[in-house]
Amino acid sequence: MEIKNIVVIGAGTMGNGIAQTAALSGYQVTMTDIIPEAIERAKATIARSVEKLSGKGVIDESQKEAALNIQTAQHLVPAQGADLVIEAATEQPDLKLELFAELNRLAPPKTILATNTSSISITKIGAATDRPDKVIGMHFFNPVPLMKLLEVVRGLATSDETTETIFEVGRRMGKEPVEAKDSPGFISNRILCPMINEAIFALQEGIGTTEAIDKVMKLGMNHPMGPLELADLIGLDVVLLVLEVLHRDLGEDKYRPAPLLRRMVNAGYYGRKTGRGFYEYGN
Ligand code: 3HC
Repeated sequence: MEIKNIVVIGAGTMGNGIAQTAALSGYQVTMTDIIPEAIERAKATIARSVEKLSGKGVIDESQKEAALNIQTAQHLVPAQGADLVIEAATEQPDLKLELFAELNRLAPPKTILATNTSSISITKIGAATDRPDKVIGMHFFNPVPLMKLLEVVRGLATSDETTETIFEVGRRMGKEPVEAKDSPGFISNRILCPMINEAIFALQEGIGTTEAIDKVMKLGMNHPMGPLELADLIGLDVVLLVLEVLHRDLGEDKYRPAPLLRRMVNAGYYGRKTGRGFYEYGN
């Protein structure tokens, strides 16, 4: 199936990164969010990002224009004209299920409904629609314009045709698609979040300071960021949510979230987005 029009739901960090990358790749993009300020912040983020990329010669003028002219809306109506909807709204299961039921009512039967969820079952989201064969996970990574991976997650009923189309879209967006089963955390967060959790346990037990733990993983293992720095980038609230899903759905104590992580989330220390996590950030 040929994809021309993409509607991205949610203008947060992931949503604006996805919208930008899709526009740079030649798709007609509409980005929606119910909060007007979120749309304004997203436009400013996209403008800064494309300025950098064009300064480095990574994108040309027409791509820059396309990204700066992404359509926006505060409602879901643009889904009526979409070939593909990519949902990147808040990671709340009930909200997502309602959203997919609504998108299913609005979008034409041919439209593929994708979700950027990092923890919710694609099969469950598919069951909230009457087109589970056209529901699929498109899991992008932060910062979306730079990270090469697209984790493509098939629900129980996702069709081969939908999967092939999404692989093509991912490649056109400059990503390397990798297929994963619909299992808690998929491949990426099944491995990443327990590593971050272990780093938090190490901090809590005083095995090393925040800086020492991050330095060990950066200099000893060549990770671009240490696990605590990375947790701040992802958002400690998101890390906790993923660990809770792994712990509950896989039923093993090895996924138990570190108490320090829970305390920090309770305190509102979510990382970069709130100005404080394992590190402090200016504005
Ligand atoms: N758009 C355009 N340019 C950007 C950008 C963006 N969104 N974000 C960063 N850049 C630019 C920087 O401005 C910088 O430009 P400069 O060289 O001109 O100053 C350049 O990219 C490199 O950035 P930095 O100098 O800050 O640092 P790095 O070289 O370390 O690169 C990084 C930054 C790509 C973020 C790298 O540190 C990295 O790969 N970190 C790991 C990120 C990661 O693991 N992400 C996945 C998180 S998990 C997830 O998202 C899934 C979820 O489900 C949990």
